[in-house]
Amino acid sequence: MQGEGLDKGGREMLVEGEGGVFLVPSVTDKWREIQEFQARSDDILIATYPKSGTTWVIEMVDGIMKGGDTSLCLQKPSVARAPFLELNPPKPFPSGLEMLQSLPSPRLVKTHLPFHLLPPSFLEQNCKMVYVARNAKDTMVSYYHFHRMNKRLPEPGQWEQFFENFLTGKVAWGSWFDHVTGWWKEKENCRMLYLFYEDMKENPAREISKLAKFLGKEIDQAGIDRLVDHTSFQNMQHNPMANHSTLPANIFDQAVSPFMRKGEVGDWKNIFTVAQNERFEEEYNQWMSRLSPRFRTEL
Ligand code: A3P
Repeated sequence: MQGEGLDKGGREMLVEGEGGVFLVPSVTDKWREIQEFQARSDDILIATYPKSGTTWVIEMVDGIMKGGDTSLCLQKPSVARAPFLELNPPKPFPSGLEMLQSLPSPRLVKTHLPFHLLPPSFLEQNCKMVYVARNAKDTMVSYYHFHRMNKRLPEPGQWEQFFENFLTGKVAWGSWFDHVTGWWKEKENCRMLYLFYEDMKENPAREISKLAKFLGKEIDQAGIDRLVDHTSFQNMQHNPMANHSTLPANIFDQAVSPFMRKGEVGDWKNIFTVAQNERFEEEYNQWMSRLSPRFRTEL
């Protein structure tokens, strides 16, 4: 995809993809190949709604798979250690599918797809899946700033506009509500560990231990301590293999907003108006039920 579906500024425009989920044309153009992706039984799928702590949990999972030897995590950028399945950037950048093809097993595979749009081979191969969910308010704020700096995503407009688009699912990868509840409903039906960003903030050592157990890896206390340190916001912020600074400014313009922006729970309070909070709660209560996952918007 080199020119079609782009606005005047070279940003992608939203398109309605499979099942009415909004995506970007670079992804829908590759839809058949994405769906035909051949997962291997030892692939580890890392799935999130955008801005929910994907890069963070990748760093944790990669460190665990490397036995707690964090020096090995510094050899390649995050995107090469856990390729993004549906990513299809303009040339010369390789697509996620191309990167995954040449990656030795066991592979880490990143995706933002809703559960029902996953390539079927992940379920056929009974792959382990790690899902991270983050409360909608902080996710929305983070996604807004990410749209400002990611020059390929659709123009976000003013915050008020983005707020409405997010609530109504008119953003890339669709509705946050459908995403977090869609994955939640399936968690007993496959090998899935469902984590929360807020829990990772509250007690990263506990969540890393949970991950290690799920992945079948024994990491001693020194290894856990090393991983907590390696995956702290401060360290990841300055780690070029984690902070996406290897990407050029015409893709990620970190002068507009850094990828590692704040890494906090409750940042929404700095931007939501009282009226927006009321509107949010109204929408939230319509979508979420007693059976939905429970989120914390402050710690
Ligand atoms: P903010 O924009 O709120 O700062 P993703 O990797 O899914 O795109 O998510 C990015 C969000 O996760 C950003 O949120 C980023 O700062 C935050 N993040 C990344 N690494 C983190 C870490 N080690 N600790 C806490 N938050 C982290």
